[in-house]
Amino acid sequence: MSTGREPTFEVVPVALGSGRSYDVLIGPGLLGRAPELIEARIGSTRCAIVTDSNVAARHLAPLEGGLKQKGRYLGTHILPPGEATKSFTALADLCERLLRMGLERGDLVVALGGGVIGDLAGFAASIVRRGVRLVQMPTTLLAQVDSSVGGKTGINSPQGKNLLGTFHQPSLVLADIEALATLPLREFRSGYVEAAKYGLIADAAFFAWLERNRAAVSAQDGVALAHTIATSVKGKAEIVARDEKETGDRMLLNLGHTFGHALEAWAGYSDRLLHGEAVAIGICLAFGLSQELGLISAHDVARVEAHFAGAGLPTRIADIPGAGPQPAELLEIMGQDKKVRDGRPTLILVRGIGNAFITRDVASAMVQDFLSRRIEGRT
Ligand SMILES: NC(=O)c1ccc[n+]([C@@H]2O[C@H](COP(=O)([O-])OP(=O)(O)OC[C@H]3O[C@@H](n4cnc5c(N)ncnc54)[C@H](O)[C@@H]3O)[C@@H](O)[C@H]2O)c1
Ligand SMILES: [Zn+2]
Repeated sequence: MSTGREPTFEVVPVALGSGRSYDVLIGPGLLGRAPELIEARIGSTRCAIVTDSNVAARHLAPLEGGLKQKGRYLGTHILPPGEATKSFTALADLCERLLRMGLERGDLVVALGGGVIGDLAGFAASIVRRGVRLVQMPTTLLAQVDSSVGGKTGINSPQGKNLLGTFHQPSLVLADIEALATLPLREFRSGYVEAAKYGLIADAAFFAWLERNRAAVSAQDGVALAHTIATSVKGKAEIVARDEKETGDRMLLNLGHTFGHALEAWAGYSDRLLHGEAVAIGICLAFGLSQELGLISAHDVARVEAHFAGAGLPTRIADIPGAGPQPAELLEIMGQDKKVRDGRPTLILVRGIGNAFITRDVASAMVQDFLSRRIEGRT
């Protein structure tokens, strides 16, 4: 793949049906090489960039410059950073802006940013001119290991998060690991949880590798970071290839998310608790509940808690700063979650590290009792 001059990158294929397969490229320096890589892999297309102001300040110039040089630049739409950008208003503005840029059916939308930009730009790409191609250039760890791969797009509504959206697979994903150097530490740690999640779902050897190499990953050692991202993307790609539209196995990716989403919603999607932090607590709760059900040893639960705590992440509800939630509040929120059907939560539990499964067999009363004890610190 390398010419000898360029740094190498890893290629992880995402195998889907009827011409929708694509590659995820992972390595250093990919943003600067994006115009050349897009041309080699997709063709001579014009590109419209969507990004947020934090990312634009740090990473836009080389991409814009490269596209202009090749005469492939349509324009850049810069949005305010943050979850509030995943709104109908922002989507409408973006779609109109793309049309004003002159975006045509054969052109590309480039999503340069974290999951917020990827979800919003992906949604716009799926509806403008009834769908144009999309290149994801994720700049957060969360987006590199999770949201840029798999084709889910979406925005939020007053009724809840991600309730409006489409499935629209990208044509290419360029994960430039050097872009992560400017990411705030808390955001990096939060994204790390989603990487560790793949080990906990189905890859015990990867989790053991992370236990040995967490320090190198945290220090953003290039080899360790690229391995972490590539292994995570392979884990996600395998599950997405089996269940693209989330009718079964893809729900495994929600390990820690039923509890995590409830905690995030309770905290008002604020800086008080980032998504990955909520998922870290949620994963520890899923492991704790699995232990109470006799599915997993205390040793495995302790390994997971120690791993997250060692990475500077919260592992218990009591770790959230300020007053904690009431058990009833959390259950009420879980009842509104789209993963709850007929009042029974769909839970992802574990039979061991790397052995997660989906169940609707645990009664709400049992979950309520478990959460009450955890919130009150009794177990
Ligand atoms: N589509 C999916 O499958 C999927 C999966 C998981 C999460 N998501 C969505 O992803 C979103 C969260 O994504 P996120 O955690 O990347 O958040 P984000 O996009 O809000 O980015 C986090 C913060 O980091 C900043 N930032 C991004 N890259 C940076 C960089 N390289 N240097 C400095 N600052 C940078 C952003 O401006 C923002 O302030 C949520 O909306 C969630 O619903 C989607
Ligand atoms: Zn998540």
